[in-house]
Amino acid sequence: MPLSFEILRDAAAMRSRAEAQRRCGKRIAVVPTMGALHDGHLSLIRAARARADLVVATIFVNPTQFSPGEDYAQYPRSESEDAAKARAAGADLIYAPRAEEMYPAGYDTYVDVTALSEPLCGASRPGHFRGVATVVTKLFHATRPHVAVFGEKDYQQLVIVRRLSRDLDLGVRIVGMPIVRADDGLALSSRNAYLSPDERRDATALYRGLEAARNRHADGEREADDLVACARAAVDAAPRAELEYAEIRDAETLELVRRVDRPAVLAVAARVGSARLIDNTVLSE
Ligand code: PAJ
Repeated sequence: MPLSFEILRDAAAMRSRAEAQRRCGKRIAVVPTMGALHDGHLSLIRAARARADLVVATIFVNPTQFSPGEDYAQYPRSESEDAAKARAAGADLIYAPRAEEMYPAGYDTYVDVTALSEPLCGASRPGHFRGVATVVTKLFHATRPHVAVFGEKDYQQLVIVRRLSRDLDLGVRIVGMPIVRADDGLALSSRNAYLSPDERRDATALYRGLEAARNRHADGEREADDLVACARAAVDAAPRAELEYAEIRDAETLELVRRVDRPAVLAVAARVGSARLIDNTVLSE
């Protein structure tokens, strides 16, 4: 690998590199990830490449966003493959801090985007978005980006990060990119690696449910309950999939909507085997 492609582990070194680039008038884009990179992540790196002079991909499996009993220990880790993929997609460097340095003994400060963190995934993963908002804030402080690129796959996270950047005057423009899917429609996810072949087939029910609802919406249906019922029916028909939620919420405020008379997101979460999967689609009015 050329010398210009590096993995930085130290927040101070990352920050001084970023500050030096800023002083030269360079634009910085960051793509935060937890690694196990797939084409969804790489689409974000390509989007960042098109928007900045310096593209930083971060790889950090963030312990504070996992609840006890979740998959923090099992989460796939593949740093050297990830670095090669990130580089091929256009990253200039990787920031991969160590957990002990991100959260040293005595660490006590958290960022909470309160109301937006309550519904959907926040309801079953208490503390999850607090961990996300905290680590994203710390990653932004280290990488000093002008732009940060996130996927619409984690729709609630994207809305929360937008609010975080605005509310705390971080001055980072948040760019959202479309969901990248496998040929059968399943949204790419690092957690798909947990699925057996049978589970993998049933996991496509999330996408089929969203498509069924989209088609009904395209036919003119606007009642949220009816659209949600389409999504629910597809997941209920898959024996290995257990629906956690299917809801339609305002695309910006995440308030529940009864009629889709403004942009809204239909979001679903289901457990398939040991994997917890999420997916969504945005419905225009
Ligand atoms: P991770 O799950 O690794 O995802 C990193 C980024 O990739 C997120 O912005 C996510 O929305 C995006 N992404 C994942 N799957 C995608 C797909 N199929 N299509 C498009 N984009 C996709 O999300 C996290 O990590 C963490 O919460 C993080 C933001 C890094 C904070 O720890």
